[in-house]
Amino acid sequence: KKILVLHGPNLNLLGTREPQIYGSTTLNDIDVMLKERAKAAGVELVSVQSNYEGKLIDEIQQAGKNGYEFILLNAAAFTHYSIAIRDAIAAVDVPVIELHISNVHKREEFRHHSVISPVVMGQIAGFGVDSYIAALDIALRKMGAAK
Ligand code: DQA
Repeated sequence: KKILVLHGPNLNLLGTREPQIYGSTTLNDIDVMLKERAKAAGVELVSVQSNYEGKLIDEIQQAGKNGYEFILLNAAAFTHYSIAIRDAIAAVDVPVIELHISNVHKREEFRHHSVISPVVMGQIAGFGVDSYIAALDIALRKMGAAK
């Protein structure tokens, strides 16, 4: 069983990027934590970060063929305007959980709207790094892999 975690633009800078908003945990810290948690449930977790919209679209398109049963997606700024990522999600059968570290709904108005929310299973936002843990735990439960 496999889960794909997709991190969008600027998330490679986690740890030093606006730490008052995003915290001091690095992307690598998050990936290691998620991999261990998935492994404990007998699931392989693969993590991909890209600053490029097309790379994220390629990953979503190929997820089913690559054997992934779930995608955990922090599309970062693309969340708010990428119709192309929305269309890729709508085109595939692999369920997607949308997640955000910050509570996008209490930030700038342009972050309140997600163009991907209508095509995902659900959205998790505002719990810091724990947003990733919550998304993973839900995916594991849905896959019947939770301990
Ligand atoms: C984010 C929220 C987005 O609005 C922002 O563009 C990001 C990160 C989050 O995880 O809180 O890059 O997706």
